[in-house]
Amino acid sequence: MALSFVWLCLLLMAWFSSKTFLSLSIEDFEGIMNVNGTASIGFIDEDFICATLDWWPPEKCDYENCSWDHASLVNLDLNNKILFNAIKAFSPLKLRLGGTLQDKVRYQRIGDQEQCSNFTKNSSVMFGFTNGCLTMSRWDQLNIFFKNSGAKVVFGLNALSGRKINSNGMTSGAWDSNNAESLIRYTVNKGYAVHGWELGNELSGSGIGTSVSAKQYATDTISLQNLVQKIYNGFQEKPMVLGPGGFFDANWFNEYVAEASSSLQAITQHIYNLGPGVDEHLVEKILDPSYLDGGSQPFRDLQNILKKHGTSMVAWVGEAGGAYNSGRNLVTNAFVFGFWYLDQLGMASTYNTKTYCRQTLIGGNYGLLNTTTFVPNPDYYSEASPGLGRSGLAISTPIETNFGPNDGFIHHYLPILRSRILLTRFKPQCASLASANGKTRSINTFYRHRQRITVLLINLDGLKTTNVGLFFENATTTVKSIQQEPKKQTGKTKFTKMLRNPKFAEATRDEYHLTAKNGNLHSQTVLLNGNELFVNSSGIIPLLEPIKRNFSSPITVAPFSIVFVHIPSIQVPACI
Ligand SMILES: *[C@@H]1O[C@H](CO)[C@@H](O)[C@H](O)[C@H]1NC(C)=O
Ligand SMILES: *[C@@H]1O[C@H](CO)[C@@H](O)[C@H](O)[C@H]1NC(C)=O
Ligand SMILES: *[C@@H]1O[C@H](CO)[C@@H](O)[C@H](O)[C@H]1NC(C)=O
Ligand SMILES: *[C@@H]1O[C@H](CO)[C@@H](O)[C@H](O)[C@H]1NC(C)=O
Ligand SMILES: *[C@@H]1O[C@H](CO)[C@@H](O)[C@H](O)[C@H]1NC(C)=O
Ligand SMILES: *[C@@H]1O[C@H](CO)[C@@H](O)[C@H](O)[C@H]1NC(C)=O
Ligand SMILES: *[C@@H]1O[C@H](CO)[C@@H](O)[C@H](O)[C@H]1NC(C)=O
Ligand SMILES: *[C@@H]1O[C@H](CO)[C@@H](O)[C@H](O)[C@H]1NC(C)=O
Repeated sequence: MALSFVWLCLLLMAWFSSKTFLSLSIEDFEGIMNVNGTASIGFIDEDFICATLDWWPPEKCDYENCSWDHASLVNLDLNNKILFNAIKAFSPLKLRLGGTLQDKVRYQRIGDQEQCSNFTKNSSVMFGFTNGCLTMSRWDQLNIFFKNSGAKVVFGLNALSGRKINSNGMTSGAWDSNNAESLIRYTVNKGYAVHGWELGNELSGSGIGTSVSAKQYATDTISLQNLVQKIYNGFQEKPMVLGPGGFFDANWFNEYVAEASSSLQAITQHIYNLGPGVDEHLVEKILDPSYLDGGSQPFRDLQNILKKHGTSMVAWVGEAGGAYNSGRNLVTNAFVFGFWYLDQLGMASTYNTKTYCRQTLIGGNYGLLNTTTFVPNPDYYSEASPGLGRSGLAISTPIETNFGPNDGFIHHYLPILRSRILLTRFKPQCASLASANGKTRSINTFYRHRQRITVLLINLDGLKTTNVGLFFENATTTVKSIQQEPKKQTGKTKFTKMLRNPKFAEATRDEYHLTAKNGNLHSQTVLLNGNELFVNSSGIIPLLEPIKRNFSSPITVAPFSIVFVHIPSIQVPACI
């Protein structure tokens, strides 16, 4: 044990002196991950994790599969204990309410005689359903449920209201905000907390079903902001205004940002980069690191637009289900989907995306919860792992590093730190995992709650186990926190001190290894450190218990596994 600790320090010193450390052959480690604690590259919201609730009725089917059951905002069973506990476990979980049919929803007005009817199937109308209506009694129930379960709600407003759809498929005319105004006023009068009001769903660019020009959308966004300012006049905290909740289109988004800049707090994009749910090759795509990497493009492009305009507007992923048309059963609701999902969370945070909403919390084939039983699917647990939410994750902003020449498959992210650190971008020149298994992906996350560091490693290889050594550069405060030493030392000295510090040797890591039951990637049951996770008959979400490992030992990343490593005793300057 002592010996391996010495090796650790040698490695660290070698790190500082040059790249020569690679010539040290450390048999224990097939890969090295270096956490540069000096600065962070991006920040995410404390409640980065978000999930959606949609409107689709039970009659919604794709490729003859009807996967929505009673998961619609209008019919979801709000008395279900598991649903309540699953949301409550996050406190707060952001929920974005919306989806395709949101632009066909009318909000009941008090005293309105018009019938408030549900969506009905009609294949000759856009999206296959007639307009639906949200009763205020249902809205009451939903708000009581959200309040009690500790959800933070973003509501997607009907942006087609008042517009005409032309024969070319585009809309003309301005948004009619009257009905939205009555909903917002009702909400405020009832004292319901809404975190944000979002305008429209997938009407940006060429749109889904129909579209609205960027210029018009910006005008409508300004109207919504004015409306919010008016209705919430005198409130200390006003809800955010978000839009457009659509697919990224560079020209459209660019124009929209330019025109709506001062009226929009968050720009929301949707992500379905795996193609349609009916695609037979989804699993191959999910297990292909270069395919996964391709997913970073829209995050990067959107950041560039925001930077170019020098706006305070932030980027969100408002809806991401991976595979469109409701996902695919036993893929997007099974263990394998965690590889896509967690990788997305990591990449998104690298590009300073503040919030990432998974389609869906429940409903379709991509729910975090099983649509009929409400039992969590594997991704619920990944999301609830200590790195990501449950006990109040906060910031995870990984950094992508350079890769060595032989590790094209390796994706190595470095950490970000807490959100009150000023954003600093730096180019990490991390020790690539040159000798490591070609398919380990890693994402480091900093865990704001008690400023602990969590690292996430994903092994996309089905055969090889990889042992990864974890090292820190500039872990100043670590030494301080353990030894109560004053600052003002060079990095090298500090690491030297670590060597002599007996307490450091005793430091342990908490590890959470997630694997599929029976090694079956299509399983909907996940094992934590080898034990099956299940909800007991009282509907209680299990506690996620770590295993403890000695700090100086390698992290063993099993084939097809997801590993969260939580290091309670290490702190770095960027965290302070
Ligand atoms: C970790 O390893 C060191 C060095 O071998 C040893 O002294 C220490 O007791 C170990 N700690 C734990 C918790 O196993
Ligand atoms: C460690 O981080 C602090 C704070 O970011 C920085 O001022 C200092 O220069 C860093 N030290 C080294 C050795 O990188
Ligand atoms: C709409 O659907 C909900 C849930 O299925 C049902 O309770 C309600 O009665 C329906 N409303 C109408 C007008 O059919
Ligand atoms: C479906 O919608 C079309 C166009 O609005 C209408 O003509 C037709 O009657 C509707 N069909 C049913 C069954 O309601
Ligand atoms: C639809 O259901 C059938 C039968 O269960 C299944 O074989 C097929 O894979 C499903 N398709 C999708 C896209 O989920
Ligand atoms: C929900 O869980 C049940 C029981 O485990 C399972 O049979 C069913 O396939 C699951 N449904 C979905 C859509 O995953
Ligand atoms: C760590 O980050 C600091 C600050 O951005 C940077 O100066 C330093 O070069 C980085 N270290 C490595 C090894 O990349
Ligand atoms: C379910 O788990 C909770 C928490 O561990 C426990 O308090 C409760 O008694 C359990 N219920 C049953 C039926 O086992």
